[in-house]
Amino acid sequence: MKKNRQVLLSVVFLISTPIYSFAKDIAVIGTGYVGLVLGAALAEFGNKVVCLDISKDKIDMLNNGQIPIYEPGLDKLVAKNIDAGRLTFSTKVAEGIRNNEAIFIAVGTPFGDDGSADLKYVDAVAHTIGENLNGYKLVCTKSTVPIGTGKRIRNIIEQHNPAYEFDTASNPEFLREGSAVPDFLEPDRVVIGVDSQRAQEILEDVYAPLIEKNYPFLVTNIPTAEAIKYASNAFLATKISYINELAKLCDKVGADVKFVAKGMGLDKRIGGAFLYPGPGYGGSCFPKDTEALVYTAATNGVHLDIVKAAIDANNHQKHHVTRKLFELLDNDVKGKNIAVLGLAFKANTDDIRYSPAINIIKALINGGAHVKAFDPEATENMKELFPHISYMNSIDETVKGADAVAIITEWDEIASIDLAHLKKLVKTPILMDARNLFEPQILRNLGFKFDNIGRSHI
Ligand code: UGA
Repeated sequence: MKKNRQVLLSVVFLISTPIYSFAKDIAVIGTGYVGLVLGAALAEFGNKVVCLDISKDKIDMLNNGQIPIYEPGLDKLVAKNIDAGRLTFSTKVAEGIRNNEAIFIAVGTPFGDDGSADLKYVDAVAHTIGENLNGYKLVCTKSTVPIGTGKRIRNIIEQHNPAYEFDTASNPEFLREGSAVPDFLEPDRVVIGVDSQRAQEILEDVYAPLIEKNYPFLVTNIPTAEAIKYASNAFLATKISYINELAKLCDKVGADVKFVAKGMGLDKRIGGAFLYPGPGYGGSCFPKDTEALVYTAATNGVHLDIVKAAIDANNHQKHHVTRKLFELLDNDVKGKNIAVLGLAFKANTDDIRYSPAINIIKALINGGAHVKAFDPEATENMKELFPHISYMNSIDETVKGADAVAIITEWDEIASIDLAHLKKLVKTPILMDARNLFEPQILRNLGFKFDNIGRSHI
């Protein structure tokens, strides 16, 4: 960042908004989870942002102050920046492109049939940009896109023989669902991939408040930035699969995975994060990104055996947890009432994509069980997948009369269950604790028949 750039900053984000002299006019295309958080946070940095989407329903909702996803803190951030006149929403994508210098692409990149990321939405946006280039533009990808997409976007825009210059750039996101707002406003790092000084300077302006506060700001070429995103997600997924496999061994040899993870994590070279065993990772990112990375590598003649193993181990883990639940019921679930607590792929989100709860519910239905389910936020989404199971509004209603309880998501509300009270409500005190929320000794003292992940003999 150039020294002469005067940045006037407030002390804390969200308390008062920074005003700085290099704020940019930005269009964010796509108002999904990534685009919405991006748009609101860039506005919070003082930029003027229009969030664009072809879905009129979504834009109408946003213009009426409603947020289509559950993400803690996002509603306040959006409302604050709308009030400040820095954040608007529109369906006029072409106009948004024409009126702004920096364009962020934040549309979805779903799973393709072969494990690759499907780029149809990114391609469509690149064409629209090509058709509407009315001056210099910086076109920056925020969606998670395969390595090489920067080049692909450049080629598409060039097909339209634009009369103006443009740059492409990559600015991968490292947001976790459920904590996306603080992750954006106080990041571990901002990574930008650029191939021109002009693009770099624009992105430095966009992120000026973070640079000024000395958050690490890493500038690379475009393929490197794209690779950092996938390398990070695949590494974290591998860490989870690693501890999940070790948990299986702990179960066999009487070791306690909680302390194995703790003991490992105290080594600064390893770190304790993402060493929590569970029912297998889910969500819209790890399952898709690990597959896409393996695919990209394979198309380049590279075999990513470690990432492939992490994917396999995760698929096994989802079956492993189901098997443990069935074993607690002597492999006879027919006609049994099973309470499933937690449907989201993790706590603090309503997202059920690739949630381990899906595998368990499917197996229970196939086995002839009656499923009662509870989740503080994800019920409506799960109803679309399993319309015929019973969805309850409270934990008590869900577990009442149950032959067994399966805990799949680590919501605070579930982690703070009073076990003695739960035992009084259920028909049989059988508990599959797939998130290791409860101490085995306490469960044992209360007379539960239970299992967990890597702590069964403690
Ligand atoms: C993940 C990354 O953490 C973000 O950095 C990244 O930006 C994001 O993907 C993305 O690519 O958009 P997210 O999928 O929201 O974020 O959720 P995580 O908190 O990473 O959890 C992913 C899965 O791993 C969940 O199913 C979670 O329950 C599981 N997990 C996580 C474990 O089983 N054990 C752990 O120790 C940590």
